[in-house]
Amino acid sequence: MHTDLRGRDLISLQEWTRDEVDTVLDVAFELKRKRALGEPHPYLRDKVLAMLFFFSSTRTRASFEAGMAQLGGHAQFIESRTTQIAHGDTAREIGEILGRYNDGIAIRHCDWGVGNRYIREVAEASRVPVLNMQCDVFHPHQILADLMTILERKGDPRGRTITVSWAYAASYQKPISVPQDLILAATRFGMNVRLVHPPEFELMPDIVEQARENARRAHGSLELLDDFDAGFRGSDVVYAKSWGALLHASDDAEAAAIAARHADWITDERRMALAAEDAIYMHPLPADRNVEVADAVIDGPHSVVYDQAENRLHAQKAVMALTMR
Ligand code: CP
Repeated sequence: MHTDLRGRDLISLQEWTRDEVDTVLDVAFELKRKRALGEPHPYLRDKVLAMLFFFSSTRTRASFEAGMAQLGGHAQFIESRTTQIAHGDTAREIGEILGRYNDGIAIRHCDWGVGNRYIREVAEASRVPVLNMQCDVFHPHQILADLMTILERKGDPRGRTITVSWAYAASYQKPISVPQDLILAATRFGMNVRLVHPPEFELMPDIVEQARENARRAHGSLELLDDFDAGFRGSDVVYAKSWGALLHASDDAEAAAIAARHADWITDERRMALAAEDAIYMHPLPADRNVEVADAVIDGPHSVVYDQAENRLHAQKAVMALTMR
């Protein structure tokens, strides 16, 4: 167990050792147990987290804010559009200034080609830990919650098959951060990862290469497919969600037209029946219901989406308690 994570930024799980990730998961399960028993756990009394959002959120905002209160501290909600960030506060200024008011800075910035760079600039200027609440490249706190959920449902994930697949959605171009961080983490945990998508929806090549190297080291595997049905066959974990054709399209209209060619990529009961009998269906939410996934699946017996959403709370509390104490 790695016991000194104080002061550490969490921008990508890939930048933390496997020992460090295991420590977070261990503490997260302990905090989940304490909450279930009603045991107070004010490890961050009088500490404050700044939560800076450049993009909308339901789960991330609500779980970080609730988590800070349960740890005995406070979270302040800051939105880029309603502050002077919209009028020119720089990343460096934000890091310096919010770092002097707070004990941690959490940021969501999903703009393609911008978000990750912005978070790293803030982290460079900040004297307190910077936590990535989702950028254009990574979504580490979602993936910690996903790992918790897989461990709860499947035990040791080594040798299990996880399908990380694209699915069609019409609402907006969703970031590629979830599938990218997920293939990195699942390969590190020795899973057999199937990355499934139409040709236009590939992930960043260097991320796929890192996942391949993770798989080699952890004796797992990474397989790339472009057949949605084949991706389901015999799989233990089905994680099918939409993402944008960000590496292909130059604007939203072009990306929507590309996605519409694959409008039949919906997770429905027929496809779930191709997976293992006890397979779980995962999605980080929000989902485009009956476009991306059928109600019968997301509300059905295989679905663990509410456990995933709950585990955001416990995983983030673990990260905050370990880094901000
Ligand atoms: N899964 C997730 O990050 O949800 P929100 O966008 O609602 O925060």
